[in-house]
Amino acid sequence: GGLWAVVPAAGRGARFGGALPKQYLPVAGEPLLAHTLRALFAHPGLEGVVVAIAPDDPHWPGWTAFEGRPVRACSGGATRAASVLAGLAALPAGVRADDFVLVHDAARPNLRPADLAALLERGREDPVGAILAAPVRDTLKRAGDDGGIDGTEPRERLWRALTPQLFRRLQLERALAAAAAAGAEVTDEAMAMERQGLRPLLVEGAEDNLKVTTAADLALFEFLLRRRAG
Ligand code: CTP
Ligand code: MG
Repeated sequence: GGLWAVVPAAGRGARFGGALPKQYLPVAGEPLLAHTLRALFAHPGLEGVVVAIAPDDPHWPGWTAFEGRPVRACSGGATRAASVLAGLAALPAGVRADDFVLVHDAARPNLRPADLAALLERGREDPVGAILAAPVRDTLKRAGDDGGIDGTEPRERLWRALTPQLFRRLQLERALAAAAAAGAEVTDEAMAMERQGLRPLLVEGAEDNLKVTTAADLALFEFLLRRRAG
């Protein structure tokens, strides 16, 4: 089957605040989500995208195609993991159980084409799959209950998990369902796979693959977009 992506876009953006969920905030005349979809569709091998949106989302533009390729919408869930599961269930039947599927946050509009290409190239050679990630640059402190510093964590082996993440459709569905059944909150797809004893590959991606969480992140994306336009 062809390559599809699931884009969880059913969050409310509580940390960002405001009435309009962050994935719909206008950036250069388009909703943030349009920038995210464009970054994904920059890869010529991507056949289509499933977007998981909030039930009865009044802001969803109703796209059935984007840049000439199919877009499907489905209702997401109460957590990011539930939204991804719903998105996987809404993939077309042509996506087979052992086909790789991308999962990419709606709130990550600044994905670089070279990073997506590297993830696909290396992830498809891995038996499990792979995620984009960036090495931790900060010095990490462990806090005590009183707010005092209990120690400094070595950061040499620590990475920040980014998206996209690439896994086989059925393995990912099973891993997310197992985590949900166990009541375990998984904050990315890799974590669900790890719980199954699997070891996804880390593929280093650019640090500017930012997740828009606050107004400062949005300002940074707007800056990067303008700089790219020249
Ligand atoms: N997401 C989702 N379904 C949920 C929660 C989140 O599809 N129930 C999506 C968001 O829309 C976003 C991505 O998962 O594209 C990453 O989540 P996050 O950045 O945390 O977005 P929100 O949950 O919307 O923001 P917040 O946590 O501040 O409320
Ligand atoms: Mg959230």
